[in-house]
Amino acid sequence: MAVSNEFIEEVRRRNDLVAVASEYINLKKAGRNHNALCPFHNEKTPSFMVSPDKQIFHCFGCQQGGNVFTLVMKLENLSFLEAVEKLAKRAGLTMPAVARSREAVEKNKEQESLYEANELAAKYYEYCLQESTEAKTAQSYLQKRDLNAEVINKFRIGYAPQSGDKFLKAALSKGFKPEVLQKAGLLSYNGNRYYDYFRGRVMYPITDAKGKVVAFGARTLDDTKPPKYLNSAETPLFSKSKLLYGLNLASSAIRKTGQVLLLEGYMDVIACHQFGLENSIASMGVALTPEQVELVKRYCSKIVIIYDSDQAGVAATLRGLDLLVDSGLEVKVAVQSAAKDPDEFLHSQGREAFVGLVQKALSLIEYRLEQSISLTDLNTVEGKIYVANEILPLAARIKNIIEQKSEIHRLAQRLSLNEETLFQQLDKIADKGFRQKIGQSIQEETSAANGFVKAQSNLLQLFISDTNIYQQWQAQIAPGDITDQNLQSILAALAVLSQKQQIITPAEIIDYLQNEHLTGTIAKLALSPAEGTNTSHLAGELIHAIKNWHKKERYKTLTEEISRKLDAAETVDPELMQEYRELTRIFKGSKVGGRCADPS
Ligand code: UTP
Ligand code: MN
Repeated sequence: MAVSNEFIEEVRRRNDLVAVASEYINLKKAGRNHNALCPFHNEKTPSFMVSPDKQIFHCFGCQQGGNVFTLVMKLENLSFLEAVEKLAKRAGLTMPAVARSREAVEKNKEQESLYEANELAAKYYEYCLQESTEAKTAQSYLQKRDLNAEVINKFRIGYAPQSGDKFLKAALSKGFKPEVLQKAGLLSYNGNRYYDYFRGRVMYPITDAKGKVVAFGARTLDDTKPPKYLNSAETPLFSKSKLLYGLNLASSAIRKTGQVLLLEGYMDVIACHQFGLENSIASMGVALTPEQVELVKRYCSKIVIIYDSDQAGVAATLRGLDLLVDSGLEVKVAVQSAAKDPDEFLHSQGREAFVGLVQKALSLIEYRLEQSISLTDLNTVEGKIYVANEILPLAARIKNIIEQKSEIHRLAQRLSLNEETLFQQLDKIADKGFRQKIGQSIQEETSAANGFVKAQSNLLQLFISDTNIYQQWQAQIAPGDITDQNLQSILAALAVLSQKQQIITPAEIIDYLQNEHLTGTIAKLALSPAEGTNTSHLAGELIHAIKNWHKKERYKTLTEEISRKLDAAETVDPELMQEYRELTRIFKGSKVGGRCADPS
């Protein structure tokens, strides 16, 4: 990172957390601190606390917390540097020029110009929908689709005029270059002249997760003139497989409800929002991609798929399914036949019925099970074998043991077969490559354990070499997180000393601890040079790695404990279960300890 720690500190000093937080949430003073309803989870009584003294926030409900940068990162889906930049601007500071390669600078410039072109187009189409007389058909179309003004504004729906060059002219008059507009997918070139790519269509801007317009979906007003939706071509900003329509507008509702509704089309998402179901996004008519799954995982752990009721919808669901089995997400599929798609369903059956549909959604395997049962005759042995063969390979991929057990239980019931028989089959499937896996996991665990202690000592080294770094990260790590006894004592000392003074020298720590054995460790840490330049960021990564390790240990213990209880048919404490699910979400799909070994 090219921004100095000093600058970051300056930005932090000039952005009081209470003032910044107040711009987003309704803070109330409570003693020394302020509290509010947490913006990151749904709650009725405030457990979100902001400390003006420590300049740290924390939610006692969902355990999210951090400093002013973290807050802005989480609320606005920004990276650390982007948050620094935003807050720098807020304080009237200019970000020092980041030293980058010339190509990077050029690329960035190009991207900026493409964003600008798309934003201009979005504004222009919005304007045309509202102001041009030609947009009357578009207006009445939207009316016919029952879209209200609020949702039209929210989704920035617009209209592209029929004539071939109205947008071109408008953009040229604003100083835009045709080559750039073409690269942004807004113009076509016929070898002779440029002309508008979108003509006579209702325009749905497609944005990235931050809400910047990157493309358009353009609906025909005349069903005899296909395609129904003309989408922007893939551009440096737009790749259909990496985006999810509506994510920027849905993100806070997804976080609050802990669940995302995945739909197929633009209109489905818009209808859901209009009916107050704001945690809705769309995969834009194609099967879900791994990139999209990763994107969803940043926001929540539960996904409910509600695709169209037609054959294409079912096929899309099935194609998306396999990817989701080991995604670590809790996946459900809602099925309905009362309407063509969620949009129609909402308008004809109403919100309550739709919510009911979501609540009754089937688990992924349950859905697949019902699908395959519908294709065969369960009264025959062949039928049972067919279904078992369809389902067991999927069940074998479920990483969550409890989930797997309950799926096998369901399958056994549905097929009127003995659970044991199915488990034996399952073991056979899972056994392939078993030896290889065991060897690999032992290797991984060992190197992770070494990496874990190394991470602790690297972190303490950073803390000792620069008190600022310690202060910056202090709230994120406690001596209890450190398993090495020596290092733990040193961190405890830092905690005590930092309450009295700003700068802590290694000599002072040594004096404070008065322990010969520790003195050696401290001196060694203080004298070995810190690796890398971006030391503050590195500290954050080390802390993350250390905490991850603990979570993983906890996850292992919990998994064993819960599956023992289930085997003994004992009840499992719902809180434990909740914790287990949370951890499953985090760790499914990642290798145990992988990140600790090499945090740099
Ligand atoms: P649908 O045909 O279900 O569209 O396609 P829709 O959103 O329900 O639209 P209306 O209600 O008929 O107006 C689902 C999605 O597939 C993509 C779009 O993202 C669409 O929202 N699609 C569909 C295209 O990209 N091009 C097409 O020609 C059709
Ligand atoms: Mn539709």
